Amino acid sequence: MKRTHNCGELRKDDTGKNVVISGWINKYRNLGGLIFLDIRDRYGITQAVFDPKILSPVIIDKAAQCRNEFVVTISGIVSVKPEANKNIPTGEIEIIADQISIENESATPPFNFLNGKSDAKEEVRLQYRYLDLRSAKMTENLLVRHKVCMSIRNYLSEKGFIEFETPTFSKSTPEGARDYLVPSRLYPGTFFALPQSPQIYKQLLMVGGQDKYFQIARCYRDEDSRKDRQPEFTQIDIEKSFTSEEEIYELTECMFSRLMKESLGKKIAVPFERLTFRQAMDEYGVDKPDLRFGLNLKNITAETRGSGFSVFAGAACVKFISVEGLENLSRKQIAEYEDYAKHLGGKGLAFIKIISGKADGGITKYLSETEQNSIIDKAGLTKDGIVFFAADTEAVANKVLGALRNRLGDELNLYDRNEFKFCWITDFPLFEFNEEEKRWQAMHHMFTMPKTEYADDIENKLDSALGQLYDLVLNGVELASGSIRIHNSNFQKRIFKILGMSDVEIENKFGFLLNAFSYGAPPHGGIAAGIDRIVQILCGEDSIREVMAFPKSKNQNCLMMNAPSEVDENQLEELSIQVRKK
Ligand code: AMO
Ligand code: AMP
Repeated sequence: MKRTHNCGELRKDDTGKNVVISGWINKYRNLGGLIFLDIRDRYGITQAVFDPKILSPVIIDKAAQCRNEFVVTISGIVSVKPEANKNIPTGEIEIIADQISIENESATPPFNFLNGKSDAKEEVRLQYRYLDLRSAKMTENLLVRHKVCMSIRNYLSEKGFIEFETPTFSKSTPEGARDYLVPSRLYPGTFFALPQSPQIYKQLLMVGGQDKYFQIARCYRDEDSRKDRQPEFTQIDIEKSFTSEEEIYELTECMFSRLMKESLGKKIAVPFERLTFRQAMDEYGVDKPDLRFGLNLKNITAETRGSGFSVFAGAACVKFISVEGLENLSRKQIAEYEDYAKHLGGKGLAFIKIISGKADGGITKYLSETEQNSIIDKAGLTKDGIVFFAADTEAVANKVLGALRNRLGDELNLYDRNEFKFCWITDFPLFEFNEEEKRWQAMHHMFTMPKTEYADDIENKLDSALGQLYDLVLNGVELASGSIRIHNSNFQKRIFKILGMSDVEIENKFGFLLNAFSYGAPPHGGIAAGIDRIVQILCGEDSIREVMAFPKSKNQNCLMMNAPSEVDENQLEELSIQVRKK
């Protein structure tokens, strides 16, 4: 028996057809002799009925043996169901079976699929990922992923971009995370590094005259995993010669609006909103603001100089957020937000309530009338509410209120979960000071060109220089980052020096790049977006792992294959490696 249809395509119009379908048993029922088998594949679920009145006992016996996840092929005639199942697209029909072949049996599966999802905890799902992938939800997510990739590929190649492959055995690239290393057998004691991104290769392709590059590229970064981070992830990586920030914005906007249409059928307006880094930090406290809701941060540092509230009086920065309709928040709830602020590094979370246009409770008694009025004024509430304050360094005040804003947006359901709000963050600083290591580091990466006005005397403008550097943000998640690059060997060398590299180090790490730039490197720039993150948001998933076929667990290991694992002594021997036991 060779299948004629998949399990998701038969409809009322097919009534009377002789069909053959194959798939897995999703559910089996034996109702007074009638056997019902729900057969599932990637495309859907179709019900088959085995009637002992018309079938031989041998066939009925076989059908009765079937258990969850057995693989079967059945043939029969499509018939209208006496009572339609409205939950599935094939619900109006069933197959009156005449044959069944059991292709394979299954051990009792470790979980069931309820409403298209595995009903087990994530560790079990990852251990049995090959079973978990049978769920409708995983299938759907991976299909969206495919559509996103196809859309990107079609769009960019229509625009004249060529897909290149770049090596995964590479040399350490300075993207900021730890490298994954691959020991060399032939050169004992030396290592390849897996690329954190194809950054340098794509720049070298520009030097190589290839003009328009793209790659759906695997990247590797040894950093703590998070819900939107994996040690191994995929970027859509783009680079173009003779380009500008504006051109990259337009290219990226068209790519995203097309992929939203082709994967979800959503229409997205272009151009996207733009905020400078400064604006984003001032108004939202973060460089990846969720613009689906308000609750903007307000600054009252000037208004609270010499305040009667000592916490404000001397603070470098005093900011607040005001929330309508939370005036009845209990002491306990306020204390919980205060703990949250402390957990984020703040010293507290002062509050006042605004009732009928007047300050009330909290720190009201410490504030002058003028202070109260300017707060009420800036809060701009249209009804009663509460105001939360952070007084600290600007960085900490932003961190506390930025996170509180996101938390409140979530808890108070301030946004539409089906909305997609893209925005560009522009004018990033070129450098940031690493307080722990007491040194300047690149905000993005060390190949970014400053805005022209800072280039001349860059060594003396470290704290003020802005870069030709941009991020694309969607619903509070950083989707993409890019920049116009340095293409001049001398200037690149100056930046390496600013970042603390010695001449020897520069030569060892980047000699090849400086050399390449000395042979007529064209001006160029580009961008890279995280594919996993895009698909995660499009699928409305909480974790990036839900849109990867075989992700690593929260603890960065593969629970299915049990990797990483120890290797044979002779493998280590060949690699001249001795393991130091911890
Ligand atoms: P960047 O390091 O900002 O830029 O990475 C670009 C995008 O890749 C995604 N991303 C990740 N996704 C999942 N897990 C991770 N661990 C992870 N790390 C990054 C994010 C991010 O916005 N070479 C530059 C790009 C350029 O300048 O053209 C780069 O890699 O969505
Ligand atoms: P205290 O004077 O420590 O009792 O604090 C009074 C109120 O101010 C409490 O609600 C604290 O949470 C809050 N608070 C203390 N330090 C800060 C700060 N740096 N920023 C904002 N609120 C603070």
